[in-house]
Amino acid sequence: MASSSTAAVISMLLAATALYLMVVSSDCKHAVQGLRLEIYSAQEVKGCYNYNQTLGICFDARKGFMTLLKTTGEEIVFYQELGSNMFYYKLIDQGFIGHGPSMIYVPDAIPRIPQELREFLNQTAEETPTEFESLKNHYQEAIRELHNVAEIQLLELVSVALSDNSTQLEILKPFHALCFNLLKTSNIQTPVELRSAHGLDDKTADQHGERTKRCSLTSDPHNNYCTGMCGPNCVCWDWVCGDCCHHQGCYLHDMCCEKSPYGSYCLVPFFYGFDCSSYVTC
Ligand SMILES: *[C@@H]1O[C@H](CO)[C@@H](O)[C@H](O)[C@H]1NC(C)=O
Ligand SMILES: *[C@@H]1O[C@H](CO)[C@@H](O)[C@H](O)[C@H]1NC(C)=O
Ligand SMILES: *[C@@H]1O[C@H](CO)[C@@H](O)[C@H](O)[C@H]1NC(C)=O
Repeated sequence: MASSSTAAVISMLLAATALYLMVVSSDCKHAVQGLRLEIYSAQEVKGCYNYNQTLGICFDARKGFMTLLKTTGEEIVFYQELGSNMFYYKLIDQGFIGHGPSMIYVPDAIPRIPQELREFLNQTAEETPTEFESLKNHYQEAIRELHNVAEIQLLELVSVALSDNSTQLEILKPFHALCFNLLKTSNIQTPVELRSAHGLDDKTADQHGERTKRCSLTSDPHNNYCTGMCGPNCVCWDWVCGDCCHHQGCYLHDMCCEKSPYGSYCLVPFFYGFDCSSYVTC
């Protein structure tokens, strides 16, 4: 009798200890700085990037699917392919359907169900000036809203942290392009204190070898607004393609944006296979 009750007490103590350890370690999870991956496989990459205890961003990337979330679970970006020539893209509160080279705004009342979205697209004439005005206004509204989401400032840090791994997964390509494009279209730069706190500037200085110096377009040597360099105007974002030289993918993407700033080739390059070395010709 005595020994069995001792055993019961011990097992209770063990259970309590295990519970305590679980609580402590899940607490630590939130405190850990930098990248934490929950899943890292060819099918899915999921995790969070914490800057500090209050600022962090979570992501989930699968084939034809990506989300960005606040650490509270609140959605910032949602992207889902709906078959081979269609996608749904939601930035904060504004939803869009892409189809071919165009995008249309989707009112909130339309449920986010592929079948409903397809039907909505089917019933909407895409090319009318009214549709275009609506797309433009709602996209601009989404960008204004993104400026109030502090987590967006972490996208470069997330993208760089994920590129650090020697095993580069194919499903991360669209994710890098999403990060790049959100920052570019909203013209958000990583604040200096965030960059320096996570050693981004030291790293890029080291990586800039001789080749980079020779071909760098930062001084606009061809007097063409640094065409082909990745980043907004003459600001070099070397984290996108590794240096400040000409990259055919960035060049072709810039051409698309010039031709049609609210076209989906400009706004959603990850759907069309953006790559540093290649992109669609608009
Ligand atoms: C986390 O970093 C952000 C951005 O620098 C800052 O505004 C915030 O106060 C920081 N939070 C903590 C708990 O240090
Ligand atoms: C779109 O509408 C047409 C007729 O208006 C119909 O034949 C077609 O099946 C619809 N397509 C989808 C995807 O709903
Ligand atoms: C790097 O990749 C390996 C698998 O190849 C994975 O286990 C690891 O978590 C990754 N680390 C980072 C920081 O991405």
